[in-house]
Amino acid sequence: MKLTIIGSGYVGLTTGACFAEAGHHVLCVDNDERKVKTLLAGKIPIYEPGLEPVVRKNVASKRLQFSTNTEEGVAHGEVVFIAVPTPPQADGSVDLSFLEKVAREIAVCLDSYRVIVDKSTVPVKTGERVAQTIRRYAKPGVEFDIVSNPEFLREGSAVDDLMNPDRIVIGGNSDRALALMQKVYEPFVAPVLVTDINSAELIKHAANSFLALKISYINAISEICEAAGADVEKVAEGIGMDKRIGRSFLNAGLGYGGSCFPKDIAAFIAIAEQLGSPFTLLKEVEKINARQLTRFMDSIREALWLLKEKKIAVWGISFKPNTDDVRSSVAVNLIEALVKEGADVSAYDPKAMDKFRELPVSKKVKLADSPLAAAEGAEALIIATEWPEFASIDLADLHKAMRTPMIFDGRNLLESGAAQTYGFTYRGIGRGVLPAPA
Ligand code: UGA
Repeated sequence: MKLTIIGSGYVGLTTGACFAEAGHHVLCVDNDERKVKTLLAGKIPIYEPGLEPVVRKNVASKRLQFSTNTEEGVAHGEVVFIAVPTPPQADGSVDLSFLEKVAREIAVCLDSYRVIVDKSTVPVKTGERVAQTIRRYAKPGVEFDIVSNPEFLREGSAVDDLMNPDRIVIGGNSDRALALMQKVYEPFVAPVLVTDINSAELIKHAANSFLALKISYINAISEICEAAGADVEKVAEGIGMDKRIGRSFLNAGLGYGGSCFPKDIAAFIAIAEQLGSPFTLLKEVEKINARQLTRFMDSIREALWLLKEKKIAVWGISFKPNTDDVRSSVAVNLIEALVKEGADVSAYDPKAMDKFRELPVSKKVKLADSPLAAAEGAEALIIATEWPEFASIDLADLHKAMRTPMIFDGRNLLESGAAQTYGFTYRGIGRGVLPAPA
């Protein structure tokens, strides 16, 4: 099939590349000329494991093409996907101006029937607005249908999530559009759930909110574990063994970050409020999430007293492992808090240091070439992101490198007790303090 994707960000690019890999002829449209040039050269502007070879292969076979021209895009695809940013506004609601603009641009180019699919994460009832907008700006009589087809890909495993999805959700109100959408997804082996547009839009917000709720639930338990002298890792294992609960997304830590959860939870709260059904449970989820970092900073102060002039090493800057994305990263919030209190921060991340350099706080941080170089002479080490390579660092070497051997493990990456046997004082999340042996 001929498909068009408007917006070549994380979602648009990965979706376009995977559709091409599945055999479709895909044209990705983006208004950023520099980005389009980079992509045409087979290079990708983000770090996403496995994506570059898929892009390169499909660009070479001409199944994946790029353009800056929306008109060309609308002429090319029987189905036109919109995957543009929907950033948060100060009050938590979503800025839909990019989406609205693209809807108008598509409308004026429409000559014959097209299915216009919203892939961007949007509040419920957005599809109705997009339909009204296109109707208003399109030539009279031109036919189109609107579909909501939310994405569930995770950064760091986006290609696999797209090629082997748990489910495909298609929200539409027309048989003609639904039949075409079934054809788009024919090459993918996954259950397809067909719904109305509003339900599909809600599924996206409800899924992300539920995952965030699971994280906040275990983080709230982690606080109780610390007070009671229990181990949250064991509690998570114990409750996770119940199939109805499941172990995933029960990793206690510094809280959730990234470009999706914080924004989507705020947006869901905002739209629920607008609809007259306040979602107070989600407000608690946000509060617990923010509290994890506050509690962590308290525990660092409790151990080190004043942070001014203390040399503190931070391992991990990205919002989670296997990505270079630092948007709404809790690790970055943590570094900002340390710098604000006058700490002398040295940090290391395997992939995210270039993106971090674009942030103002980076000017006040030393960026090291390796985890051990960051820890050299440090009075405390913080693990802020659970990159697997940090778990295999030789703890004897680390002990030698540090001035005072103290580890604050914000992601419970190290085995409980492991650091202690090497003479570290170790503090995880929901695991209590394990003092170094006398
Ligand atoms: C998330 C969802 O998992 C995807 O299904 C969804 O498609 C995507 O948002 C989106 O809306 O586009 P992503 O933001 O890439 O994906 O990352 P996650 O793996 O979900 O992690 C989000 C945050 O939660 C990270 O900061 C991570 O460290 C944190 N987390 C995750 C925990 O603190 N504990 C856990 O047990 C799991």
